[in-house]
Amino acid sequence: MKLKLLNIAMLAGGLAVSTSLWASGATPAAMLSNTCNGCHGTNGASAGPSSPTIAGQPAAYIEDAMKQFKSGERPSSIMGRLAKAYSDEDFKAMANFFGEKKFVRAKQPTDKALVAKGKQVHEKNCEKCHEDNGRKPDDGGVLAGQWSEYLQISLNEFQSKKRPMPKKMAAKLEGLSQDDVDALIHFYASQQ
Ligand code: HEC
Ligand code: HEC
Repeated sequence: MKLKLLNIAMLAGGLAVSTSLWASGATPAAMLSNTCNGCHGTNGASAGPSSPTIAGQPAAYIEDAMKQFKSGERPSSIMGRLAKAYSDEDFKAMANFFGEKKFVRAKQPTDKALVAKGKQVHEKNCEKCHEDNGRKPDDGGVLAGQWSEYLQISLNEFQSKKRPMPKKMAAKLEGLSQDDVDALIHFYASQQ
């Protein structure tokens, strides 16, 4: 309990640790977002591997993802049920909160040959929208340094058409072999 309060106080930016913070209602976004830390890590930088890092993802992307989870448009193991507890306003507040944080790239083992192959596949098919090797916080979110287990699950969902994606992304993804997709995951996971 003490730790949680400390966290919130730090998030609020230099406020002294104080139980009165709960009563003041001064930091709704930070308080809301505290619920997410257990899985997504402190300030949204996930300790992995199955919960994605959400820190530093574009706010619009986070907000949209929460709405898609809530409506069931996007499949999930956890987030669909969780998102039902929040309003659109909450989504906006949390999205802005995490969007401003720093994306911390996960350190994870990768295969050199697959990374090299993945780089080529990326440049040809994905760079147009996921710029700067997937590092740029584009419409599709940051891919570089995301947990590979999560990327794998996401790409499977796209490939099986369970998760919506832009038509142009679908066209690119459909043209790839499973080996290409595996190489892409190594490439994104390799980046620091
Ligand atoms: C019990 C663990 C858990 C908690 C708590 C949790 N998440 Fe998640 N989150 C996940 C998992 C796992 C996924 C991947 C989708 C799924 O299977 O539900 C995910 C996915 C997401 C995504 C999509 C990221 C992307 O790159 O597309 C967003 C955004 C997100 N969560 C936001 C939140 C917010 C905001 C909260 C707090 C209100 C929260 N999560 C709380 C486990 C959790
Ligand atoms: C036409 C632009 C476009 C192209 C080309 C494209 N993407 Fe995307 N990508 C998007 C958008 C937009 C989203 C967000 C979809 C959503 O609303 O969830 C996305 C989402 C993703 C995600 C999910 C990120 C997350 O955090 O869950 C992955 C992984 C991904 N793209 C990989 C790829 C790969 C690999 C390629 C190349 C084979 C590719 N994309 C090509 C636009 C594109």
